[in-house]
Amino acid sequence: MFRYDRILLAAAGLLALGICVAVAWEDARPGYAPYQEEFKSLVEERFGPERAAAVPAGLQQIWLEGAERVDRCTSCHMGVTWQGLDDVPQPFTSHPKAPLAHHPVERFGCTFCHGGQGYATELPAAHGWVEHWEEPLLDRHLSADYRFRDPLAFLQFRCNLCHRFDREIEGAPYINRGKRLIEQKGCRACHVINGRGGAIGPDLTRVGEKEPEQYDYSRLTSLPTLFGWQIAHLQNPKSYSPETVMPDFGFNTEDAQAIALVLLSWRDTDVPAELLPGAILRDVPTPEEAERERVMREGEGRFFVEKGCFICHDVSSFGIVSATKIGPDLALAVEDAPRRFGRTLDDFLMHPSGTMEVVLSKQIPLTEDERREAFELLKKAYEKHMKEQGAQDGGKPR
Ligand code: HEC
Ligand code: HEC
Ligand code: HEC
Ligand code: HEC
Ligand code: HEC
Repeated sequence: MFRYDRILLAAAGLLALGICVAVAWEDARPGYAPYQEEFKSLVEERFGPERAAAVPAGLQQIWLEGAERVDRCTSCHMGVTWQGLDDVPQPFTSHPKAPLAHHPVERFGCTFCHGGQGYATELPAAHGWVEHWEEPLLDRHLSADYRFRDPLAFLQFRCNLCHRFDREIEGAPYINRGKRLIEQKGCRACHVINGRGGAIGPDLTRVGEKEPEQYDYSRLTSLPTLFGWQIAHLQNPKSYSPETVMPDFGFNTEDAQAIALVLLSWRDTDVPAELLPGAILRDVPTPEEAERERVMREGEGRFFVEKGCFICHDVSSFGIVSATKIGPDLALAVEDAPRRFGRTLDDFLMHPSGTMEVVLSKQIPLTEDERREAFELLKKAYEKHMKEQGAQDGGKPR
């Protein structure tokens, strides 16, 4: 005898269970699943069902052993290593060739270059758009926030986490420009970088690690971040530290962005040794650079570096080079000051007028003894200059 009511009851139970399972399944369905379906149909459309059947399914990940890091970006970004998908929308596009030529994804993953949160499989988390995540995806949005002309410029600071000791990195023009400016402007006269340089300003070797809270943003008009502060400070050091002797080098926005990207990259990294380039992992100066720096800091003109005169003045015969050249070359002051001010150099140094009155009363107060020392040194610099001139003119009297 059939008990229809029992069967009905059982059927209803099964149905309820089925609904529960379906809901749970949908909830547990990972964030990449819809993208994988879409990718599959995209491949089928373009390359036929055979290739589509070979599209991998489920969680995709690149395990970076030495770094104890796992990058799951390819769970959604399935076309990265495919050919012929340059024109499809993200996240399916073939990756641009150049960056991967030297950094195959099996070895390097994605996040060392792009930032973001490698192990996450949901979109906002993976791209690092979450609070307190320090390595957001360095994407077009972030570059736009800082008004970079190149929409992907921000990426380049991560290149320099590994390529710190390379002078030039192909594919990282901002970093190259920043490094060139740091060399040309003589930042090392005042700052230690990688263990060498002067001590007038703070050591910059790990300046990229400073906590954002350590800076004062009250005067900042751009974004209140470490990076925003660096750009603003480089363009106008005095407005952030009114007493600073750090010169205003007249950097334009792109110069300041380039240097700030380099500064941001100067920090400890968790990159394992096998992923660091084979370049010598030290900052080795060329012999000319080493000599130039030595002369600036230890040579007979070091007084003018220590006091900060070289911010505005060359003292050419002593090998002191000013990046700004706001004032005249002091090697000629002995003969030039009388012409310019109608009195002797020692008188001028004791009772300066014009710019130097302001400089010596506010910016660089010198004692009487120091002014005398400056005078004696400038006499020597002038004699040396004349001797060099004489030698150049073949010993002819002038
Ligand atoms: C859940 C799927 C998903 C995951 C996981 C994912 N992405 Fe994306 N990604 C997308 C989608 C969708 C887009 C295109 C829409 C957009 O830009 O928001 C995108 C866009 C991008 C872009 C271009 C953005 C721009 O505007 O410059 C980059 C770069 C990128 N992803 C890198 C990564 C990296 C690196 C990871 C791993 C840390 C990652 N993605 C993980 C789905 C994903
Ligand atoms: C060696 C560093 C490096 C690695 C490793 C790397 N990328 Fe890239 N990626 C770049 C650079 C540089 C660009 C921009 C290239 C260009 O536009 O010429 C780029 C571009 C992209 C774009 C397009 C961004 C846009 O807005 O147009 C996406 C998406 C992307 N990468 C995702 C990934 C994913 C996913 C991985 C890991 C499987 C990865 N990348 C690995 C350096 C890298
Ligand atoms: C995780 C560390 C790492 C990151 C990040 C990285 N590189 Fe590299 N790069 C390397 C290593 C290691 C090599 C040497 C590859 C090899 O031959 O083993 C290399 C090689 C290169 C080369 C070939 C020439 C040379 O110096 O050997 C270029 C060019 C280059 N990288 C540019 C870039 C650019 C541009 C970026 C940023 C988009 C970048 N790299 C990001 C580690 C890195
Ligand atoms: C004449 C000496 C002098 C020169 C040259 C100089 N600086 Fe400075 N710099 C200072 C002093 C002093 C400070 C500390 C006061 C301040 O914040 O301005 C400083 C501060 C800084 C800071 C902030 C450091 C921190 O710990 O917060 C950065 C970054 C910096 N300088 C970068 C540079 C760069 C890049 C150059 C070359 C383009 C340069 N400096 C050239 C003297 C100098
Ligand atoms: C902020 C920039 C600045 C600094 C720093 C500076 N000077 Fe000057 N200095 C000038 C300018 C500009 C002149 C040109 C005269 C004028 O415009 O008043 C000048 C002129 C001079 C002259 C006259 C030279 C001549 O050929 O007529 C002497 C000497 C001099 N400075 C010495 C020094 C000494 C010594 C120091 C360091 C203690 C120093 N200056 C620091 C800007 C500076």
